[in-house]
Amino acid sequence: MKKGLIFALISLLILELKSQTLIKQPYQPSPKALEFVQNLIQKMTLEEKIGQMTLFTSDWDVTGPTIRANYQADIQAGKVGSIFNAHTAEYTRKLQKIAVEQTRLKIPLLFGYDVIHGHKTIFPSPLAESCTWDMALIEKNAHYSAKEAAASGLHWIFNPMVDVARDPRWGRVSEGSGEDTYLGSLIAQAKVKGYQGSNLQDPFTILACVKHFAAYGAAQAGRDYHTVDMSERVLRETYLPPYKAAIDAGCFSVMTSFNEYDGVPASGNAFLLQKILRQEWNFKGLVVTDYTSMNEMVAHGIVADEKAAGELALNAGVDLDMQGAVYYNYLKKSLAEGKITERQINEAVKNVLLAKYELGLFTDPYRYSDAAREKATIFAPEIMNHARIAAQKSIVLLKNEPFRGRKILPLAKNIQKVALIGPLANNQEDMLGNWRAAGDISKAVTILQGIKEALGSNAEVKYAKGCDFKGNDTQGFEEAIALAKNAEVVILAMGENQAQSGEAASRSDLGLPGVQQQLVEAIYKLGKPTVILLSNGRPLTISWLAENAPAILETWHLGTMAGKAIADVLFGDYNPSGKLTMTFPRSVGQIPIFYNPKNTGRPFNAQDKYTSKYLDISNEPLFPFGFGLSYTDFSYQNMKLNKNQLKANDEIGVSIEVKNIGNLAGEEIVQLYVQDLVGSVTRPIKELKGFQKILLQAGETKTVSFKLKTQDLAFYTQDMSFKPEAGKFKVMIGTHSNSTQDLILELVD
Ligand code: NOJ
Repeated sequence: MKKGLIFALISLLILELKSQTLIKQPYQPSPKALEFVQNLIQKMTLEEKIGQMTLFTSDWDVTGPTIRANYQADIQAGKVGSIFNAHTAEYTRKLQKIAVEQTRLKIPLLFGYDVIHGHKTIFPSPLAESCTWDMALIEKNAHYSAKEAAASGLHWIFNPMVDVARDPRWGRVSEGSGEDTYLGSLIAQAKVKGYQGSNLQDPFTILACVKHFAAYGAAQAGRDYHTVDMSERVLRETYLPPYKAAIDAGCFSVMTSFNEYDGVPASGNAFLLQKILRQEWNFKGLVVTDYTSMNEMVAHGIVADEKAAGELALNAGVDLDMQGAVYYNYLKKSLAEGKITERQINEAVKNVLLAKYELGLFTDPYRYSDAAREKATIFAPEIMNHARIAAQKSIVLLKNEPFRGRKILPLAKNIQKVALIGPLANNQEDMLGNWRAAGDISKAVTILQGIKEALGSNAEVKYAKGCDFKGNDTQGFEEAIALAKNAEVVILAMGENQAQSGEAASRSDLGLPGVQQQLVEAIYKLGKPTVILLSNGRPLTISWLAENAPAILETWHLGTMAGKAIADVLFGDYNPSGKLTMTFPRSVGQIPIFYNPKNTGRPFNAQDKYTSKYLDISNEPLFPFGFGLSYTDFSYQNMKLNKNQLKANDEIGVSIEVKNIGNLAGEEIVQLYVQDLVGSVTRPIKELKGFQKILLQAGETKTVSFKLKTQDLAFYTQDMSFKPEAGKFKVMIGTHSNSTQDLILELVD
């Protein structure tokens, strides 16, 4: 009895201790942290404070126009408090030494970096990893990214990027989680959890930065950095939830976006940064600009000069100026002129210092800069193994038709002669995709290597590049065709190189770049069993392939273990399970195309010209959101609701039986959608509300059950209050967004 009591008390104490270090949801500084930081601020000169509001790039890996040459002298002078693009335990230690040994107050530096999908070991690109629909896996990707980055001296990473994106012309769709708000919000949370862990004092975790706030993914015409213009309803309903989800998961920082919203650039937008972020969402962390976006407010035409840009930004609530040197150059003058207040400066400095405090840098500024730990952590086998699993699960099987009576995939392991053709076939660099940052190209496994390893020495795997990603040169075709003629199976590795998607990589033509399409068609004429491997950062318009090629695997940019994962799927060691998180259009003319538009007053009707459609192309996508095949097949039957009516604060059970009707075990992502049939404002034709990824053995059936809460039916009603409205709802379950069964439920007052 006594023992039990003591045990209970100890457990309570442990829980209490733990809860002090656990990240609150959203982030809330502790009184102790605030006291420490406020005391320090009182000792600081104005120049030192402005220094803490300044973030400069180092001379490594510069990711934009460089403005400063001698940033080390700035560190020494206390004029810069945070550095990005500097990493490795050794280099960060060297810079940290300047800050803590040569400045008056010895305030440690904060090191930030673009760790977008892995640090040295690269995981699949974010769009690819989102196709796993696997939150535990995505969290683990983030956890390992943080582990490597933290071991390299980094404290803070500029991720997750949660911009909902519905225009594949925009190259940065590769950095996000696709077109859906609900899925994007879950992924945002998983990543924050993975990066920050449950205790920021743990030196294997790292501060996350959700970006780009807000609505950067809606750049007009898919052109990067372009204007964003949308109603507040669309902003709140479609674009904001993933940022909020990240903040609710405790994300410590927010990066502003390059675009304007409602006529005001995000870095000076008080509606976004004050009203929504600070007031409505109660955000207590750090706000940083994107690279020189403060200065760019002059070009936007919202201020006449950089000094005014700094004033607009600080008044809007920006704490830290990334690379623009606007606060650095003008804030003192602005204060003297009374355009801003010292209280505002103190508030911004507080948020920067809190970051350093939460990481434990005031206790030990070098705790992340440990060369022995760096060596032991980077490329650790558990991280590399996980990168392979993540890559396997990101692959989406788009097509697998019978060829001479048998589905081409998976390929038999006893094939003797393989022709591997294409610019991505024997290519390390492009396997990593864009924003690989410090990713080690030399560690990337090529597709050629992966296939050779899988087949062993009995098979002859011949490679020809065939063509490049750019230009009209077809000289390599002849060699490629000759190889293909002699092979049992032809594998074409086609798509985009790493620079053809990502930042500043918008495209107006989404076909295979260069002469790759010509090469595919020339090879196809040989009538050989041909598999298309696509590596790309965005949905492509591949109607010809979809119609003519018997087998297509969307492999995206899969990272360090790409070649191994691709071989695993090609030869059936892993049965593909990924599903698209962005719609593939038939042509650029259909863009923006996504799974859940509104119905319009004249929904599509083939017999009636005066309905919403094109004269020259179908409304249907090439591959819809949620689509992805398996080497086995699944059937769906017996959809049921456990009741037909819902009340306020109620929930309803929805279930369906899913059967594996093929001969192989396989995973299926079962998707739940809802349509509010009549609302005080019009509602989308469907919205994802849940999903489950299940493993079914051949012949096995599972009942998949979902719970829908009344609150899951809420939306921004006509008066902009977020609530559900009484009426009928169509509930849909299926294998993808265009293949569902449905039942009707009613929400009653
Ligand atoms: C600009 C990009 O928009 C942003 O995503 C990135 O984090 C910064 N540059 C820093 O490199």
